[in-house]
Amino acid sequence: MRILSGIQPSGHLHLGNYFAMMKRMIEYQENHELFCFLVNYHALTSVTDPNLLREKTMEAATDFLALGLDPQKSIFWVQSDMPEVHELAWLLSNVTGMGLLERCHAYKDKIAKGMAANHGLFAYPVLMAADILICGANKVPVGKDQKQHVEVARDVAQRFNVTYGETFVLPEADIEDDLATVPGTDGQKMSKSYGNIINIFADEAALKQQVMAIKTDSTPVDQPKPIEGNALFAIYSLFLEGKEKEKLQERFITPGLKYGEVKKELLGVIWEFFAPYRAERARIAADKGYVVDTLRMGARKARGAADEFLTKARRNTGLNYYE
Ligand code: ADP
Ligand code: TRP
Repeated sequence: MRILSGIQPSGHLHLGNYFAMMKRMIEYQENHELFCFLVNYHALTSVTDPNLLREKTMEAATDFLALGLDPQKSIFWVQSDMPEVHELAWLLSNVTGMGLLERCHAYKDKIAKGMAANHGLFAYPVLMAADILICGANKVPVGKDQKQHVEVARDVAQRFNVTYGETFVLPEADIEDDLATVPGTDGQKMSKSYGNIINIFADEAALKQQVMAIKTDSTPVDQPKPIEGNALFAIYSLFLEGKEKEKLQERFITPGLKYGEVKKELLGVIWEFFAPYRAERARIAADKGYVVDTLRMGARKARGAADEFLTKARRNTGLNYYE
């Protein structure tokens, strides 16, 4: 089984990224073929400062390695080190209906939020489909917000196969129900672009500020607290397994719980949870050469795997006039 997913190096990586995607990817490396990459071409749809893009790309790579992504057990690279993906994106464009792209929520939401509509934003799902199909991925671990994009990739693969003959594997989104949408400190989806994140690797002061900012309701202390739609409960639960989660639920529904105290406790839990990774991160960050070499090695392996599907697609579309 081939597992593949990517993340945009467009800001600090956060708890939503970690639990819904990064942690699950890192677990897959133990017994699956894992393809993991940093989508810097996609990040160009929102990052226009070149220094920032370089910096965020290195930061995301360092984060992933520190959190346990093993470059010997997986293929880990930066999207722009495999430019062939654009050739495939063009081949896919010709079997991608305008309507399919016009229906994409991510595109519609960004336009609704006032982002200027441009071709990069509109064609984003086609490049993402190329990312997935060029590596022959079966499963794509993502959060719920990316479900539709993976469905577009599957749809495009199907149309290509019908038009040109069997070429691509049909991919499937791999979403974990409990982690489908991790709320941010304001209760909306946690997102780098909404200013509501809790960073994986914030320093103590920033982390404190973020955790204390988690929005809570005004239920009086002597009343049971709601569980549904409670961001504090949802974020704390990310760090708990079965029985511990039940205990937390019990505490919330028992009158007397003080949100401020729970926040302080959560701050300690998050800090401790990432402590070993923080130490590893400091070690890796000191060796930029190692990170760059690792990504370059990953790109060589990824291009090797991509060659099979790109060659097939070129042949099936008739670009191979010389054969
Ligand atoms: P962001 O929205 O913060 O920019 P990305 O779009 O780079 O995050 O997402 C990277 C991965 O993390 C995707 O698989 C996405 O579905 C997942 N993800 C991001 N935010 C959340 C969240 N709040 N809850 C669940 N998954 C998320
Ligand atoms: N669109 C994804 C996101 O914002 C990132 C992405 C690009 C991706 N290419 C991909 C995810 C391929 C999975 C597979 O999160």
